[in-house]
Amino acid sequence: MAEIIDGKMLAHKIRKDIKKEVEILKNNGINVKLAVIMVGNNPASSVYVRNKSKACEKAGIEFEEFLFDENTTEDKLLETIEKLNKDSSVHGILLQSPVPGHIDINKAFATISPDKDVDGFNPVNVGKLCIGVDTFISCTPYGIIKMLEEYNIETEGKEAVILGRSNIVGKPMIQCMLNKNATVTVCHSRTKNIEEIIKKADIIIAAIGKPNFVKENMVKQGAVVIDVGINRLEDGTICGDVDYENVSKKASFITPVPGGVGPMTIAMLLNNLVKAAKKA
Ligand code: GUN
Repeated sequence: MAEIIDGKMLAHKIRKDIKKEVEILKNNGINVKLAVIMVGNNPASSVYVRNKSKACEKAGIEFEEFLFDENTTEDKLLETIEKLNKDSSVHGILLQSPVPGHIDINKAFATISPDKDVDGFNPVNVGKLCIGVDTFISCTPYGIIKMLEEYNIETEGKEAVILGRSNIVGKPMIQCMLNKNATVTVCHSRTKNIEEIIKKADIIIAAIGKPNFVKENMVKQGAVVIDVGINRLEDGTICGDVDYENVSKKASFITPVPGGVGPMTIAMLLNNLVKAAKKA
């Protein structure tokens, strides 16, 4: 039976430390502040933004929300980002994705000042991660690395298989695992014999958004299984990309959903924000 990687507990610990740092900054006259921009009203995004807002409040971080309706122009969005770039009271800027189709999200991410890019999505920061220079690392992959470290899970020379190649999780995850000296394979929708590839993995990181996709028969005995998926089933329950009940019998470590990767994403966002405030 696998040991459970308790992301909720670790996130709690990290957030407690962050709260102390925020207080120290406050005593030095710096009020840490995050600006969050949302365009349209994607229901999942609303939940994520609400959770980020609550986490900021608990840590003593100021939070300002910029909600734009679905028809907002790209110019208007970029104008807002540029204003926030210049506003010295704002330390971090987060543009919640997805945005409506008429807006070029890459252009928007590139407009966020690299110094306030707490999501790590500006191409300057993406590039720095690639060459192994200190930067803002995108929050979910960063949280996963923290979990692996907390549980002393060896990555050096290990076969890491990442399922999914999104700009938010899969791609930065490749760099993070490379920086930890793993041998990295990425599977995606066009990958052939995906099951054979997963079977060879010492560490599996599933981020494809397919409920219970990773089954017990695809997993090597003793593999470490990290589940990034948050899928809502028809009956309203939430499940990951991994068939937790059965895979946990075979894995050495596994993250639950909820209570695994999700809470770590928010903790690392706050971590990046404090880092931005300190640098400023
Ligand atoms: N949409 C889904 N996850 C994320 C995230 O971590 N950051 C942003 N900005 N948008 C998201």
